[in-house]
Amino acid sequence: MKLVFATHNLNKFKEVQALLPSSIELLSLTDIGCNEDIPETEETIEGNAKLKVVHVRKQYNLNCFGDDTGLEVRSLNNEPGVYSARYSGKDATANTNMDKLLDNLKDKEDRSARFKTAIALDIDGKEQLFIGLCEGSITTERSGSKGFGYDPIFLPNEATVTFAEMSMGEKSRIGHRGKAMRKLIEYLNR
Ligand code: IMP
Repeated sequence: MKLVFATHNLNKFKEVQALLPSSIELLSLTDIGCNEDIPETEETIEGNAKLKVVHVRKQYNLNCFGDDTGLEVRSLNNEPGVYSARYSGKDATANTNMDKLLDNLKDKEDRSARFKTAIALDIDGKEQLFIGLCEGSITTERSGSKGFGYDPIFLPNEATVTFAEMSMGEKSRIGHRGKAMRKLIEYLNR
């Protein structure tokens, strides 16, 4: 079965491809000729995930899933949440986002946080939603060079190293996207 993963993020694509059975031919947005970024205009992580599959269904009429992820920091009222990508402004990079987060947490005792992934799936027009959570905390400095985004400063409760210090397989085993993906795969295999 051909299935579109509505992303341009190669890191995410690889993480997800490694989890899927070979019976599924995974296509990225680039593979289907969609070179634009689908705007994330909703106010929830779930809403943004859904927006992506609605766009692919409308424009390309293909079976598709799309994800959105946010980092929710408890002492910052669950910020950056749905704004994780643009936390430090419209020209944000992973580095400027991490700098802002570390700065905002400078005087906070509670550094607990969680990643939340929502995956929306549309098979033949039937929509489903899958959620994956990973609880952890924000470190005081960066550690590791693997992964992407906030990985160097996120320490999952189930680990002794940050996401950026572990293999992709280990991150998927305990991480938010892996958990949501396994729910999606279970659904596809049913
Ligand atoms: P999106 O799901 O691509 O919109 O991600 C929103 C923001 O969260 C981006 O800044 C990503 O870098 C960050 N992000 C998403 N997934 C992860 C992850 O697995 N680890 C670290 N940061 C992530």
